[in-house]
Amino acid sequence: MRKRWLDGYLLLGVLLVALDQGTKALAQECLRGGDVPLIPGVFSLSYLENTGAAFGSFAGRTGVLAAATAALLALVLWRYGSIPREKGYGPLRVAFALVLAGGAGNLIDRVARGYVIDFFYFSPINFPKFNVADICVTVGVAGFVLLALFAYRGGIDFLWQKRPAAGRDNRQKEETKMTVMQAIEARRSVRKYEDRPVEQEKLDRVLEAGRLAPSARNEQEWRFVAVRSAQARAALTQACGQDFVGEAPVILAVCAGNPRTMRCGQPAHVIDASIALSFMMLEAEEQGLSCCWIGSFDAEAARAAMNVPPELEIVALTPLGYAAESPAPRPRKPLADLAVYDRF
Ligand SMILES: Cc1cc2nc3c(=O)[nH]c(=O)nc-3n(C[C@H](O)[C@H](O)[C@H](O)COP(=O)(O)O)c2cc1C
Repeated sequence: MRKRWLDGYLLLGVLLVALDQGTKALAQECLRGGDVPLIPGVFSLSYLENTGAAFGSFAGRTGVLAAATAALLALVLWRYGSIPREKGYGPLRVAFALVLAGGAGNLIDRVARGYVIDFFYFSPINFPKFNVADICVTVGVAGFVLLALFAYRGGIDFLWQKRPAAGRDNRQKEETKMTVMQAIEARRSVRKYEDRPVEQEKLDRVLEAGRLAPSARNEQEWRFVAVRSAQARAALTQACGQDFVGEAPVILAVCAGNPRTMRCGQPAHVIDASIALSFMMLEAEEQGLSCCWIGSFDAEAARAAMNVPPELEIVALTPLGYAAESPAPRPRKPLADLAVYDRF
């Protein structure tokens, strides 16, 4: 499986580690002879071998500090993997990369030299000497706090949320008696499935949820197709052009007939079929099964694969089976951006 934490932002981290190590080597080479004032009386380059942590704390306890830093870095890297791969999360990835780079830069010093090289010095306030790695950690942590407070008000729960285990099964859910809201919250689009059949009783429950869905004028102009044969699934998978669809032992198709536009201007049959599939997907969740709504498919090829009569349209498909992955929740816009009371 593709590792979620291997990306270009970590390359930025690697470059920063190189910058940190390069400047430290330069400092060791050039600054040991004496300070170099950059802004006289304010800011200078001043060499220091620090055996402690920030601000000289824990002096001499290099082993403890190295172990603590390594554990902290492992934790940050692990949680980095939970950040969704959306463009909007780039700044959060940069903040993590900065913290990781700074932590790694000073860890390398502690392990390789037994001390950390600091060389930036603000003399008017006698601020403890620091280095590029310290700047990275400080900017990264400050950036993270600012992003959490002001940018991601929709939540960054994914950083501490435990992901459900892949291939959850119904036993666990029956014990906990899943509510509708829990099913809504737990549902994910799953794109990797176990090679394991779906029990007939579970499939019946899923189809029953579709049968009980509401429809305009209660017309129920829908048909549900549970595709199980390997041949038909292969043909449907080809119609979708999305290989994971065929991994699931069942592909559900929802078809709608009797096209009718309601007074509001919306197509009743498409809306009815969509509601039915939504209900089925939530019941699938309750049954410990997973789905992924598929709207991207060649309608004529799908029609041929299932022998759908001409009076019906295929509105949507979904694979249905046991998940072999546990995707992180995809981001959602904050409710404040979506809902208004009374009027716009
Ligand atoms: C109308 C519709 C069409 C979709 N079509 C596809 C599709 O063709 N392929 C796919 O992998 N996912 C498809 N999806 C799944 C969305 O990408 C997914 O729901 C969205 O990214 C949110 O992720 P989540 O379902 O895990 O919360 C579709 C979803 C909807 C509602």
